[in-house]
Amino acid sequence: MPLVPSYIKQLSNYKPGKPIDEVKRELGIDNIIKLASNENPLGPSPKAKQAMESILRKVHRYPDASGYELRNKLSVKFNVNINNVVLGAGSEGIMSTIMRTFLLNDDELISAENSFIGFKVLAKASGKKTKWVPMKDNRYDLNAMAKQINDYTKIIYIANPDNPMGTYITKNEFEEFYSYVPDRVLIILDEAYFEYACDKKDYPDSMYYRYNNVITLRSFSKAYGLGGVRIGYGFAHDDLISNLMKVKVPFEPSMIAQVAGYAALEDSNFLKKTIEINKAGSKYLKNELDTLRISYIPSATNFITIFLESENKAKKIVDRLMKNGVIVRHLDSFGWPNYIRISIGIEEENKRFISTLKKCYEQYKL
Ligand SMILES: Cc1ncc(COP(=O)(O)O)c(C=O)c1O
Repeated sequence: MPLVPSYIKQLSNYKPGKPIDEVKRELGIDNIIKLASNENPLGPSPKAKQAMESILRKVHRYPDASGYELRNKLSVKFNVNINNVVLGAGSEGIMSTIMRTFLLNDDELISAENSFIGFKVLAKASGKKTKWVPMKDNRYDLNAMAKQINDYTKIIYIANPDNPMGTYITKNEFEEFYSYVPDRVLIILDEAYFEYACDKKDYPDSMYYRYNNVITLRSFSKAYGLGGVRIGYGFAHDDLISNLMKVKVPFEPSMIAQVAGYAALEDSNFLKKTIEINKAGSKYLKNELDTLRISYIPSATNFITIFLESENKAKKIVDRLMKNGVIVRHLDSFGWPNYIRISIGIEEENKRFISTLKKCYEQYKL
């Protein structure tokens, strides 16, 4: 028997957006902006930052393994029982616990092809058969996904809104899809970008679908600016949650992460500002992209994905931007070679991105 299962050997390392320091080292330039990883351009929630600083003197202790304070706060805020709430080291941490808790023998998974890469890694590492259903017009094709359900289907994963497309499935689409899903099949609704999407009238806030087989995942990494802290949460039926609680890494999330999440939930000013800045940035970028006649996908998130005529052109643009100190994300490794994802920044970052993009087009006659 091989030491490493073949489905693990075949995996490749996750390639994150280039860190600023790496680009500084490689190119010897100083003034760099990173619009590549959908992080909050305002930094962390100030209340969370303060809470983290004040808990530092206590970190010789292990954290509360049950995450009581934060789970309780979330249960009050979202009007559910504490037994319906789970925490994790990011929503990806919970996703990983879900895979370890529920997958068995011949179970299969269904998701969209080339959607969130974090789920793809977990699905592949599980060794289970996954049906990757192609997107249609850069959106999840729920009709096609429903047709793939069979007796072995255990988990269906939907990123809503999706990363890297930024598109979302609507209430009607979800409700119709749900009518085809047997009760024994778990649906993960990954709402990492919930706060950016929830004001759309036809967006299906999964809290209205607290069915026994629906798991909601949310994150503090985006709208609350805590990506580096690794804190996320989920809601589901208490039977699912109680089993997730048995399987989760006992002391996850860390003490720092728990207090950061708690304080972030009280930082409504920061959240408001985050959403406002994102809206203004999105409007500005769309106008400028229209002027430049660059096609983009309508986004309900904190990023905009553009698409070019060829992989070569996309690659050239990403390289030129990088050489000029602007890091964006070429989506070739996500399976979208003609696409580039740009995180929406603060005003001066967005302006710098657009002016550098214009310069690249003029200089290199793209
Ligand atoms: C769709 C989606 N889900 C989950 C995550 C990860 O969230 P977290 O940092 O909470 O693990 C991301 C991060 O980019 C994402 O885009």
